[in-house]
Amino acid sequence: MVDNRTIGIFDSGMGGITVLSQLIKELPKEKFLYLADTKNFPYGGKSKEEILALTKNNIEILINRQVKMIVIACGTATSQALDEVKPLYSVPIIGIIEPTVLELKQRKKCKTIGVIATEGTIRSKAWEREIIKQIPQTKVINQACPLLASMAEKGEKEERVERTIQEYLKPFHNKEIDTLILGCTHYPIYTNIIARNLPEKIKIVDTSYIVAKKVKEILKQEQLETIEPKGNYEIILTKEIEEFKTMAEKWLKKEETI
Ligand code: DGL
Repeated sequence: MVDNRTIGIFDSGMGGITVLSQLIKELPKEKFLYLADTKNFPYGGKSKEEILALTKNNIEILINRQVKMIVIACGTATSQALDEVKPLYSVPIIGIIEPTVLELKQRKKCKTIGVIATEGTIRSKAWEREIIKQIPQTKVINQACPLLASMAEKGEKEERVERTIQEYLKPFHNKEIDTLILGCTHYPIYTNIIARNLPEKIKIVDTSYIVAKKVKEILKQEQLETIEPKGNYEIILTKEIEEFKTMAEKWLKKEETI
């Protein structure tokens, strides 16, 4: 069986573009529809109820566009809504947490894992729960980074970003973490800054690569792969923002990795 329909992806804004970028590389023949809920950005400080309602709304927009699968390219929506929405729709829906933790389990090198993410994601304890379930002996150290997604969304590059990141990474300095998960899809744009403010031996995990591999696996398993010769992507927003698409192009080409 083949399926030439589109794959739907959503986030509150620009963050999920890091996932879209890997998906295009991994699945060059597929068509992608990226929905940025710019009207409701940021998601990080919202309640679980709000996130659940916004997630359902995003899924319905994508389903109305006939997508064959949905990728929640947002840590905040994955952590607070994925379990509830998954049984409600007939298309496969995946988030960023479970595939990442399963991949880390395979690597067998994680004893103490640090997680940085939005306030809502950290409050939900979703990463911690999944890590303890899959890799039971692991210790998890969480750190919420409330300002970081908004800085990334605006493409901030100044001194203030470095200082903010240094502040957020402080709790990891006297703890022996071997792995740091970027638990929000906006953060990979700052991988370089994060890396230079941590001991070199700490492995930084960008979920986008892992999620893209997982999508490929699911399409194969569910016989949803396309037979079109060449893919494409479209970006839609819930509120028009003039520079969004130009900036997304830069993120896609990784020109914006700071
Ligand atoms: N990129 C999102 C995440 O992974 C959302 C950030 C936000 O809107 O606060 O959590």
